[in-house]
Amino acid sequence: MDRPIGVFDSGIGGLTVLKALLHHLPNETFLYVGDTARVPYGSKSAETVTLFSLQIGTWLVSQNVKAIVVACNTASAHSLPLLRQSLPIPVFGVIQPGAIAAISKSRGKIGVLATRGTVLSGVYEQTLKRISYDVQVWSQPAPLLVPLIEEGEIEGDILEMILSKYLIFLKVQQCDTLLLGCTHYPIIKPTISKLWPEVQIVDSAESTAVTVRNELQIRKLYQEIVLEKNLQERYKIYLTDLYDTFLQSASLFLQSTLSHYELLTLETLENTFYSFQSHA
Ligand code: DGL
Repeated sequence: MDRPIGVFDSGIGGLTVLKALLHHLPNETFLYVGDTARVPYGSKSAETVTLFSLQIGTWLVSQNVKAIVVACNTASAHSLPLLRQSLPIPVFGVIQPGAIAAISKSRGKIGVLATRGTVLSGVYEQTLKRISYDVQVWSQPAPLLVPLIEEGEIEGDILEMILSKYLIFLKVQQCDTLLLGCTHYPIIKPTISKLWPEVQIVDSAESTAVTVRNELQIRKLYQEIVLEKNLQERYKIYLTDLYDTFLQSASLFLQSTLSHYELLTLETLENTFYSFQSHA
């Protein structure tokens, strides 16, 4: 099965998930779409995020990917059921793997830090309680964190001040585990640990990658043959806008220099979507 796996996010934060996928699925290649022209998704309505997700999912299908990983928590929260219904290939999200990882670590009190859209959807609470009905869950929206991290404020006074404001509610509830429900937050784990040393921090990137590998193996879609490719040759990055600072932030999320990327225009995404719709 030498077709690539599609991965998408509202922007470049999902590169944290791509990095984990590259590590845990060493024989696979990936097509990553970052919707940098329309980021952030975290403050948009469920309808808008679902339309954008369907457009990107359809384009990835047109590129012959064998499965799709929705790296964005907000897109996973709003759009996963419809993507699964509408697309002819397996679609994986980050919510369920993150929830399973949190339950396996927690003693019963979980705090979720996420975008406003993800918190309002209630999806983490529902998923956590479905896995373990007596777990207690509190969620805190953290709308200022994504712009701060994108601006490179990944440590220091400003981040600590804003983070403290968001963590106080979860600390008061005496959560023993903090689930990072957003692509960007793994980058600020050291500051979270500094402000809240007792809490166990869980992010969904690693557990998502392991879930995707297991599911592909079950569905006989997993590439077992060893690839004769180096890391850089194993992924292609498409971005819907190439703004001036994205390279800097992208290297932060991927933790290596982003050497190759292409522009994927919104017009191409929209045209692909409408032409698939009219043939459906
Ligand atoms: N990728 C989004 C998420 O994980 C964060 C950035 C945004 O708001 O678009 O929820």
